[in-house]
Order: sequence, then C-alpha cells, then structure tokens
Amino acid sequence: MADLVLVLNGPNLNLLGTREPEIYGATTLDDIAAMLVAKGEALGIDIELRQSNHEGHLVDWLHEAARRDALAVILNAGAYTHTSVALRDAIKAITVPVIEVHLSNPHARESFRHRSHIAPVARGTIAGFGAAGYALALDAAAGLRHKD
Ligand code: DQA
Repeated sequence: MADLVLVLNGPNLNLLGTREPEIYGATTLDDIAAMLVAKGEALGIDIELRQSNHEGHLVDWLHEAARRDALAVILNAGAYTHTSVALRDAIKAITVPVIEVHLSNPHARESFRHRSHIAPVARGTIAGFGAAGYALALDAAAGLRHKD
C-alpha cells in the first residue's frame, strides 16, 4: 500500500490565486493539489489535499491522519497558526509528523504573525517559498519513510 500524506489547509487558502497575490502568489490551491498529486505519484505517495475555513475540521483531519497511519501531514493552518491552541494540542496528541508550511514568510510580516502555536510541535517548518514550499514539504515527508 502506498504511503499517505494529508495536505491540510486552513482559512482563506481556498482563495489562493486571487487573495493578495503580491503576498501569496498567483497559484491556486487546485494548482498546488495537481502538482502534489503528480509529485506524489513519482514518489509512491498518495496525496489528499483538503481545505477548511473551520478550525474543528482541521482538528478532525489531524485525528484522521493518525487513525489512517499517515506518513505525514503537511499543514498550512493560515491564521490559525497564530491563534489555535486546539490545533497545537491535536498535533501533540498524534504521533504522525506534521510539517508546517507557509507561502509567505510570517517572520518578515506583522508582529502578530511571528508567533506560531504550530512550530513548537511540528517536525519542521517551511516558509517563504510560495507554492514551492508544499513541494519541499512533500520531499521532507518522503524523507521520513522507513528505509529497510
Ligand atoms: C499563511 C501566513 C499566515 O500568517 C496567514 O494568516 C495565512 C497564510 C501563509 O501561507 O503564508 O492565511 O499561513
């Protein structure tokens, strides 16, 4: 069975492509999904990309990743990154490694974006490389596979 990576996206990321393109770029979430599925095929990894504007959906999907023994979760929690203790606790509650991704570099932006509740419990963080960050995260996930 192929390894599974869930790619979870938080609020407003459904608007990628038209949302503040000077910050987030012109690539849509559908474009990112297509790129990841193609890259996943080459790596032997099944990709399921989801987006929700609701915090609890993201919590539920983190739990699902654990139930399904996913290889990793790639998580762009959007603004919940800076506010959500619930997401932090959900990541802490599972053993699936979570790779935090941001299109922009939050540390180069407003001070309220400098704190991430995700970063201390994530396996690692990739930020500031636009849509390419998701591909880098998938390479990182592939690198977590058991080598026997
Ligand atoms: C973001 C950065 C967050 O600060 C912001 O709230 C987002 C997107 C990013 O991908 O750069 O919604 O996570």
